[in-house]
Amino acid sequence: MRDKIVAGNWKMNNDLAQTEDLLSNIKKLYKEKEGVRVIVAPSFTNLHHAFESLRELPVDVAAQNMNENSDGAYTGEVSGQMLTSIGIKTVILGHSERRAIYKETDELLAKKVNAALENDMEVIFCCGEELGERKTEKHFEVVKRQLEKGLFHVPEANWNKVVIAYEPVWAIGTGETASPEQAQEMHAFIRKTVAEKYGNEVANDVAILYGGSVKPGNAQEIFAKEDVDGGLIGGASLKAEDFMAIVEAF
Ligand code: PGA
Repeated sequence: MRDKIVAGNWKMNNDLAQTEDLLSNIKKLYKEKEGVRVIVAPSFTNLHHAFESLRELPVDVAAQNMNENSDGAYTGEVSGQMLTSIGIKTVILGHSERRAIYKETDELLAKKVNAALENDMEVIFCCGEELGERKTEKHFEVVKRQLEKGLFHVPEANWNKVVIAYEPVWAIGTGETASPEQAQEMHAFIRKTVAEKYGNEVANDVAILYGGSVKPGNAQEIFAKEDVDGGLIGGASLKAEDFMAIVEAF
């Protein structure tokens, strides 16, 4: 049985005081929901604090990015070893903002995936097409390429450390959500693509999250779809009430 996951991507939001506030509200509102894993991804500076603060709850803390090298002269970067040394065992890689703004390529992401796995970390690997690509019906092709180039070098034995997040770029932070049918269609395609490469068992076990303007009001109908195993939540994860309501939506 694959995991059901609700992960909050806080992006570059929340200083220490705001982080403390959000964490304390999450702790107040958190109710264990059987079979649903909850993850939050604060910025690097708040990871240690979040990890310590959430120790008492079954809520995991993830990084939003990491460097592909193990150490060395990479000013401003953070390695997998640094993350695991403070207890962080999950990292989001390939978010569309990293791809678009920081020019992270499929090839670079493949290296980052390796670095994470070498540190025994779990990877939430993001993929998704831009609006123009959907309009010209290239969305399946684009997502397939992102998977093939960024993820499909991973040996089968490591797939228990892989989560996929499908995030159509046109739905991120725009208020526009893919319809549940559009999400299901792409998630089924992703699962089929994984099955073609790794077989049905790996494909059935991998959690595929949907991301892009998920809110308390639309989470339930999206999560109800067969191949949608949860969500990667941006804006709505910054408010504990909304985030916990999305967890409740399962
Ligand atoms: P959003 O962001 O929920 O604000 O659309 C999702 C994401 O970027 O992961």
